[in-house]
Amino acid sequence: MKFKVKNICCIGAGYVGGPTMAVIASNCPSIQINVVDRNIDRINSWNEEDLNKLPIYEPGLSDLVKKSRNINLHFSSDIESCISNADMIFISVNTPTKKKGIGAGQASDLRWIESCARKIGEHSKGSTIVVEKSTLPVKTAQTIKEILIAYEDKNSERNFSILSNPEFLSEGTAIKDLEQPDRVLIGGEDKDAIKALEDIYLNWVNEDRILTTDIWSSELSKLIANAFLAQRISSINSISSLCEVTQSNINNVSLAIGMDRRIGSKFLKSGPGFGGSCFKKDILNLVYICNHYGLYEVANYWEQVLSINDWQKKRITKKIVEKLFGTLSNKKITVLGFSFKSNTNDTRESPAIDICRDLLEEGCKLSVYDPKVKKNQIEKDLIFDKENISNLEIANSINKACINSDAIILITDWDEFYNLDFLELSKVMRNPRFIFDTRNIINAKDASNYGFRIWKLGDGIFQ
Ligand code: NAD
Ligand code: UGA
Repeated sequence: MKFKVKNICCIGAGYVGGPTMAVIASNCPSIQINVVDRNIDRINSWNEEDLNKLPIYEPGLSDLVKKSRNINLHFSSDIESCISNADMIFISVNTPTKKKGIGAGQASDLRWIESCARKIGEHSKGSTIVVEKSTLPVKTAQTIKEILIAYEDKNSERNFSILSNPEFLSEGTAIKDLEQPDRVLIGGEDKDAIKALEDIYLNWVNEDRILTTDIWSSELSKLIANAFLAQRISSINSISSLCEVTQSNINNVSLAIGMDRRIGSKFLKSGPGFGGSCFKKDILNLVYICNHYGLYEVANYWEQVLSINDWQKKRITKKIVEKLFGTLSNKKITVLGFSFKSNTNDTRESPAIDICRDLLEEGCKLSVYDPKVKKNQIEKDLIFDKENISNLEIANSINKACINSDAIILITDWDEFYNLDFLELSKVMRNPRFIFDTRNIINAKDASNYGFRIWKLGDGIFQ
């Protein structure tokens, strides 16, 4: 059956649903798009007149929202009616790691996927294409199908086609990634449904970038892409420690190996460990699936990517304590950067959280500055007992954060941290003063001219 999509509903107005639909709306003016969410505060923020108050910070996003909002892009909490008006429904809800029960700590919690499938089953009309946008364990489409078939039986006028269309955007570059994707992956069985989704992307993506596969390969490819990316980071981070003890420099090693086209230069930047909502949960899920199928060696192999990531964060805290004479009590430490990477306000699984928590445990006072993360988010991530409240201060500038501080820990690679004003900082900080550069981005020679003691991750000279 041929489809001509006129009305899209996207369930989930998060870091994927919002930007993805803004890009589709901008490129497909003839399609009406409703982005819905059960979180009414989030929907209200998407509808904020002041575009600085959108729930997500992402370069280029506010311009797109301004262009299409209330024209062909709508944010609504009326989930039922938006589902019933849609001929294509994207499921873009969160799929975190299960906290309780079978598979706790590894398997994906699919309760929100199931509740979306049931809502679609109850409220959709006619022929509906259901698109998995969330990252899901391989074979989830089967679960969605079984739920929807149960509703098809009750009302024969309705039928469903299920597609997998995983999202590969990175936060901070989401709009660019969506406008110029490396590839768009569509998995499914129903050729007409695939064509309908393909036609949407063809409005701005070249045909040769659109890859269609069977549905299971599509679901699995998303998990594997994230696992491979995370593996590269753990690989380079493991070598950063070797550089430190051998007077070599991880940036030089990355450059040298990355020039080999078989290796490639991307994703070879060592740092404080990967964060973000997906790498860890997707690898845990991969490990769970491998164990489920009895592939224990494969599961153990991928688990190591996570072990190295945890080790990297821990070794940074250890280094700080060691350098600061073995104790952090009566010391103030300034943390620059709290989001998990630059150009996003997202703090999910940010390495800053673990490092800051460990530093607070060591008894220091902590002052945190991030250009985009809100004060209440940092407090939510860090306050785990009453004592913490008095030991934590959130500053609104680099300079204020550094007043009377003993050390700066640079955690996120925001542009403004590349050229710190060492003269000004030297005037407000205590002596001896330290900089721990976990992103290897500051000019260490400059900083040492102003009396700073420097530790740079992966740099054998500044140890
Ligand atoms: P998110 O937490 O930012 O957004 C998910 C939204 O879904 C939330 O606002 C939540 O309220 C809403 N929701 C959950 N259940 C609902 C329901 N039953 N009805 C209505 N709304 C519901 O998550 P995200 O970062 O956008 O990720 C969504 C999915 O996309 C995940 O599976 C993730 O793995 C995947 N993904 C994320 C990224 C990323 O960069 N964040 C990139 C690619 C893929
Ligand atoms: C990642 C993938 O890159 C996306 O393709 C995928 O769609 C997304 O996960 C997802 O499924 O959620 P994201 O987590 O937004 O995107 O950001 P990345 O650029 O991948 O960075 C992840 C973490 O790795 C950050 O903490 C970053 O600082 C770190 N990183 C990245 C490094 O330490 N070194 C690098 O060379 C690259």
